[in-house]
Amino acid sequence: MLSSTPDHLDIRPRRLNAALPDPLPRWWLGNDPFRTHFFNAMSVLFPDGEQFFIDSVRHFRDRVTDPALAQQIRGFIGQEAHHSREHIEYNQRLRDLGYDIDALERPVRQRIRWIHKNFSPERQLAATVALEHFTAIMADTVLRHPHWLADADPEMRRLWRWHALEETEHKSVAFDVYMQVCGDRRMLRRAMRLSTFFFLRDVTIGTLSMLRRDGQLNLRTWWRGMRWLWGKGGFFRHLLGAYRDFFRRDFHPWKHDNSALMHQVASEYSDALVR
Ligand SMILES: [Fe+2]
Ligand SMILES: [Fe+2]
Repeated sequence: MLSSTPDHLDIRPRRLNAALPDPLPRWWLGNDPFRTHFFNAMSVLFPDGEQFFIDSVRHFRDRVTDPALAQQIRGFIGQEAHHSREHIEYNQRLRDLGYDIDALERPVRQRIRWIHKNFSPERQLAATVALEHFTAIMADTVLRHPHWLADADPEMRRLWRWHALEETEHKSVAFDVYMQVCGDRRMLRRAMRLSTFFFLRDVTIGTLSMLRRDGQLNLRTWWRGMRWLWGKGGFFRHLLGAYRDFFRRDFHPWKHDNSALMHQVASEYSDALVR
């Protein structure tokens, strides 16, 4: 078990240049409307969300004196910027299929504007740390247990695994910056509660909206989806332990050491590295 970020952690962006299918298969994940729209709903949040993450870390960049962390910040910003770009393209494919993505993005954008105006920079960074933990534990499970994406369209699987890999690589950057410039664990825990609420809310609304557009909003689909998320071995259910670790007094993202898995997946994407 590690208690801090591994030495020589090399965070470098990769240019995926995903050749997303055009048009996107309507239910690209196992021909299953719920699972497909669950991932789609997360994609809708990424472009604005990741810009928020970048801004909140960049705000403190000048206060970071450790050269290794400064280098990691550069990698983090590069990676998140590439994710944003790929998800903008992905979300455009969703628009092309007739989903009202603008209506889903609007309230997220408004909330981020509100946060910029009303939260201190430290509190904004705390929100980023919380959401980065969320993405890191989901990324770990997607990489560790390939069955989650086994029946996906191959190019979509490639995109999600790439994103999961880079979320793993940079999972401690926002946290390490936060501990250096603020370090208030109570604020972090509060940020996690609030972020969890809004994340689950946004993903639920997005999933519902896209299911409705497909005429698939019925009890059966919803029930099966809930079982897939929360039932025995469900996607969210088995994240609960890792999620709760965030509330421990000595939490650090690398206490969950998944570097072996990370290196293994990284070898799949070595061609895409930006030199
Ligand atoms: Fe990302
Ligand atoms: Fe991230």
